[in-house]
Amino acid sequence: MLAVYDGPLAIDPQTDGPLKVRGNLEITAGTARVVARVQSALLCRCGGSANKPFCDGTRLKNGFRG
Ligand code: FES
Repeated sequence: MLAVYDGPLAIDPQTDGPLKVRGNLEITAGTARVVARVQSALLCRCGGSANKPFCDGTRLKNGFRG
């Protein structure tokens, strides 16, 4: 559980990499199942991660640029 479900959320796209997210974050699936409650995460932006929504480093193999 998160102590607080409110507050600022910082989202910083990393060069050629994931979104770096910091703040009180609850990630849910379309079925409302809670995937994670965290205060920081690296979210895949290349679409290649085998552990979506999280970055697993696959971007280094698929040559993602962005
Ligand atoms: S951005 Fe890291 S695996 Fe997609």
